[in-house]
Amino acid sequence: MKDEPFTPQAYTSSIESGSFTWSSPSNIALVKYWGKKEQQIPQNPSVSFTLDHCKTTTTLSFSKKEDQDAFSFDVFLDGDKKDDFKPKIETFFKRIEAYLPFLRNYHFKIGTSNTFPHSSGIASSASGMSALAMCLMSVEKLLMESDTALSTDKSIMSDDFFIQKASFLARLGSGSACRSLEGDLVVWGKHNEIDGSSDLFGIKYPFEVHKNFKNYQDTILLVDKGEKQVSSTVGHNLMHGHPFAQERFKQAHKNLSSLIRVFKEGDLDTFIEIVESEALTLHAMMMASMPYFILMKPNTLEIINKIWAFRQATNSKVCFTLDAGANVHVLYPENELDKVCEFIKNELVAYCQNGHYICDVIGFGAKLINN
Ligand code: DP6
Repeated sequence: MKDEPFTPQAYTSSIESGSFTWSSPSNIALVKYWGKKEQQIPQNPSVSFTLDHCKTTTTLSFSKKEDQDAFSFDVFLDGDKKDDFKPKIETFFKRIEAYLPFLRNYHFKIGTSNTFPHSSGIASSASGMSALAMCLMSVEKLLMESDTALSTDKSIMSDDFFIQKASFLARLGSGSACRSLEGDLVVWGKHNEIDGSSDLFGIKYPFEVHKNFKNYQDTILLVDKGEKQVSSTVGHNLMHGHPFAQERFKQAHKNLSSLIRVFKEGDLDTFIEIVESEALTLHAMMMASMPYFILMKPNTLEIINKIWAFRQATNSKVCFTLDAGANVHVLYPENELDKVCEFIKNELVAYCQNGHYICDVIGFGAKLINN
């Protein structure tokens, strides 16, 4: 696998200090990434909707330090120092060091905040790692542009390269994070029918998408706001030696192939079939692994049954997906907004912990807030 394009030519960092702020959203997979090789190389391709409101904003401040011995950084969440976040970031820095040679030259202050509550059961790793990757790329771009020996051309790094390398780095932090930088649909993982798709980074879905999918809605029902029962590392590992793993990886390729036509034609019935089957297959994989887990809660099943009954009674195109937890993502087209919101309020909110839910919509990825 070729990752050389992401190893930069040597540059001297003449900049003393600076700061960048990026926001980056979460994403919800339609075809799921479940099972990985070393360094978050996925076992199968996946595709996701980028979200809009659920996001992390990260400010990365950097100042030159004397020695280049160890990584030096502090992490803050909503202004509070978070030393328990440090090991994850230390691991991330180790993994990306070869691609960002300036990492040991600076002390970093990483200030982060999420629009969704920390204890909402919504994983912040996709939005958090992608926001941090964008900040780090901004630093690299600045250093390269300021290195007069490299070139006087201010456009050394193209926007396409910037985003591709940021996605590559984000993947090394958390696999699904590489799908958060752009929108509204992102593919990650090599797929035969999708030119440019790669196991190394996410790409914007390159084909035609029907207007039925524009501004698609995602209402996240918070069924269980606790810490994740199964960490993603443990979860992905369950696919090693799993009796159904190879068939599952094949199925993901097939589902992504089918979605190409679905996206083009706006075929919402087949979309529902694939998306709900993907969600249930993800959970079925967990139930059939050793050790086995049930991550759905009774209220998850109540919600699924209510959605099915509503669809049957009203011909609505509402459907659900799940990530590796009990919360339910309710997906529906924009033209059903009023009808489905009414249904959610009347029939589904009762199954949410403290009645909490988050209304989101498809978005377009990371944004530079300031530098
Ligand atoms: C079920 O990206 O959290 O949400 O690469 O170990 O950080 P790591 O895993 P992570 O896994 C996400 C799994 C999923 C499906 C998906 O988002 O595709």
